[in-house]
Amino acid sequence: KILILDFGSQTTQLIGRRIRDLNTYCEIVPYNKLPQSLEGVKGIILSGSPYSVYDEKAFKIDISAIRGKLPLLGICYGAQSLVHQAGGKVEPAESREYGRAALHSCDSQDPLMKGIDQHSVVWMSHGDTITKLPEGFEVIASTEDVPNAAFRIPNEQTWGVQFHPEAHHSEQGKILLGNFIDICGIRGNWSPKSFIEQTVKELKNQLGNDKVILALSGGVDSSVSAVLLSRAIGNNLTCIFVDHGLLRKNEAKKVLEDYEHLGLNVIGVDASEKFYRELQGVTDPEQKRKIIGKGFIDVFDEEAKKLKDIKWLGQGTIYPDIIESVNITGMVIKSHHNVGGLPEKMNLKLVEPLKTLFKDEVRRVGLELGMMPHLIHRHPFPGPGLGIRILGDITPEKVRILQDADDIYMSMMREEGLYDKVWQAGAILLPIKSVGVMGDERTYEYTIALRAVNSVDAMSADWTRLPYEFLAKVSNEIINKVRGVNRCVYDISSKPPSTIEWE
Ligand code: XMP
Repeated sequence: KILILDFGSQTTQLIGRRIRDLNTYCEIVPYNKLPQSLEGVKGIILSGSPYSVYDEKAFKIDISAIRGKLPLLGICYGAQSLVHQAGGKVEPAESREYGRAALHSCDSQDPLMKGIDQHSVVWMSHGDTITKLPEGFEVIASTEDVPNAAFRIPNEQTWGVQFHPEAHHSEQGKILLGNFIDICGIRGNWSPKSFIEQTVKELKNQLGNDKVILALSGGVDSSVSAVLLSRAIGNNLTCIFVDHGLLRKNEAKKVLEDYEHLGLNVIGVDASEKFYRELQGVTDPEQKRKIIGKGFIDVFDEEAKKLKDIKWLGQGTIYPDIIESVNITGMVIKSHHNVGGLPEKMNLKLVEPLKTLFKDEVRRVGLELGMMPHLIHRHPFPGPGLGIRILGDITPEKVRILQDADDIYMSMMREEGLYDKVWQAGAILLPIKSVGVMGDERTYEYTIALRAVNSVDAMSADWTRLPYEFLAKVSNEIINKVRGVNRCVYDISSKPPSTIEWE
């Protein structure tokens, strides 16, 4: 594997993504958590950083401890640290260098630069620049403003690049990272197929004859985890699917059928009434979340108690949930989310077969496992479901209205081939009524808001420019077919400052 040392750059995860895109396994670790043993590590990448090498607070390691032992690539701050620690000069750039730049020379004989065009466009993002290389370092690429855009240390498999090959705007960045992987000698050692083979083998060893329970949500991660686990331990896996009554129209039924086709051993529990009862009159979004989260755990726990000898809880945790990342305060943050605090309550050991994968890799594994594409390419859907898309209090009647409107919107999206072009979409029921006219009658009914966004990771999102014609058709269809709605609006806010969900 390749190890990426994180010095706090916003693009560290992107480096990981690119390496994985090249079918090569890598892990991201905080800069100060280099493992004692480098067994199995075939190369190291030093990430960028929000700091300058001269900052007192800068994240520092002694690079000489790793230099020369393994192929090493420093990116931006990583490259500057290599230079700085070897006695070269790093200075504030005359003008901060952000954005696209074109190489104007490049040593294509160098193994890192193989296949990179002389005038390739690269992405710069730095305040400091390398003004003098230490003795023995050799320049291998320059731009007009940055003479030392890339360098190597001869007789040592060490390179530094001032630009960001991981950024999309570095047009041939992927070639460069691919070259580095070739230098490490491990290109293509990861594929969905090899992942499945190895994981199934490991799960068999880890679990033996033990019994596992898993909460299915209908989403990609829990579904793929379940199929992998069932490949390994068959019917020793029991899945529980809780219908809180706040799913999309007919979703519970459809998902259960899908799971049956996949040969999973699933207990479906319809707990709608319990949830509607507990949510009655509750309008605060956070309180709704708490009630739904707790209700979910209670139902799950009750079902689990009926089963005997369960030792493990399976979860669909994925890599971005557990990457320890360094932020500007120097603190290591670990954002581990698990299904509403289940493990704490149940005293079970955790098994998380997808915890080394990024989302798109989970999808590739799912498809390789023969899972249905519609299950794999489903839009994200919040755990509390329509509960946070009905603004204000929730009643079964409002759930019915929203389900019908949402179903029309989503079906039309599929029909028009728009579903796969959108990151996430759905309808929202607003708690206001307005006046309309239908036939000769005045109406006074609810408003439906339509939402569609494009995003990469849900951290930021842009509203989708859906065609007017499409919106017109959806609006017409909803107002004509859904009793209780006489107005439709389209949400044109992006995140930030708005959020994807309305609650
Ligand atoms: P926001 O609204 O914060 O949503 O922009 C970002 C992403 O998270 C989803 N989301 C949730 N998912 N439980 C979940 O499991 C929740 O309480 C929750 N709230 C928001 C949202 O659908 C979007 O994909």
